[in-house]
Amino acid sequence: MPSLNEVAQKLVLPGMGILAADESEGTIAKRFAVIGLPVTLETRRDYREMLFRSREAMSKYISGVILTEETLLQNAADGTPFVTLLAETDVLPGIKVDRGAFAMPGTQGEKITEGLDGLRARLAHYREVGAKFAKWRGVIAVSDIAPSRNGIRANAHVLARYAALCQEAGIVPVVEPEVLADGEPGDHSLERCAEVTSETLETVFKELRLAGVDLGGMLLKPNMVLPGIRSAERPSVGEVARRTLEVLKAQVPATVPGIAFLSGGQSDEAATAHLSAMNRMGPLPWALTFSYGRALQTAALLAWAGEAANVPAAQAAFAHRARMNSLAATGEWRVELDRAA
Ligand code: G3H
Repeated sequence: MPSLNEVAQKLVLPGMGILAADESEGTIAKRFAVIGLPVTLETRRDYREMLFRSREAMSKYISGVILTEETLLQNAADGTPFVTLLAETDVLPGIKVDRGAFAMPGTQGEKITEGLDGLRARLAHYREVGAKFAKWRGVIAVSDIAPSRNGIRANAHVLARYAALCQEAGIVPVVEPEVLADGEPGDHSLERCAEVTSETLETVFKELRLAGVDLGGMLLKPNMVLPGIRSAERPSVGEVARRTLEVLKAQVPATVPGIAFLSGGQSDEAATAHLSAMNRMGPLPWALTFSYGRALQTAALLAWAGEAANVPAAQAAFAHRARMNSLAATGEWRVELDRAA
């Protein structure tokens, strides 16, 4: 059986990255609303089946997929379990195990992620049905008064408890502390994001060490250092890459095998350009790749629009985006390649 480190390394092999397809029912409803599609068990299945059967994307550029519990246990329309379908292209199944972020008492609008109760038993079950890695997202909002020290510490603590339970179950934890760019009011500066991200990561690694987590058997899924989406600041691609790397180099130990970013509401092209710029600034102590949801899926979702006849076009759109991000993961993406397509 491969070790945690070997699984983590496989997820971040050069030019490979993770597809985040773990939208909760509420989030996928928001995505489907854009194409006017009702949300049912079947539409969710058909959409995800379209992605997972995109042979080019899945075999060449995607190392793992983060699934919901529903999808992990679900079959494609012809009865093939999704886990079997993923194995055909050597893609590792992962599972989102948190139960969402809820209002945190004693704070002004901050959130704490729930889902630790019963997690040991759930992880044993997920492992049995094939999950090789897991994800837990902690949400750090930025405003004049947030995040509080308490909010950062509480989220870092539950991330560490989740990570320790995953490793006990033989599952690689993907640790996701997301400093929100698209929260409220969302007008903070790049520098404020750098400060908050830095403090968050410092606290997360302190808690991971205290919890006895093997840093060589996990991945980090952070935000990039960006101004809030309603900020007037327009930093260059190089500036975002430089500040993000400064924060990561200061806070992320080199024993962590890889960092796979979330896209956090960036445009498809920006998420790709930032990742590529960072990889061009190497050599880096860890692999640096993508674990995108929206920045990998939006073009495919729009091309699909819920119609079976559009599946080939949607799969082509997905393969294109996956290829662009694969190039970015080795610093070889160029804007002309994107625009030409
Ligand atoms: O938890 C967040 C997702 O896994 C990544 O989604 O790339 O759309 O921010 P995003």
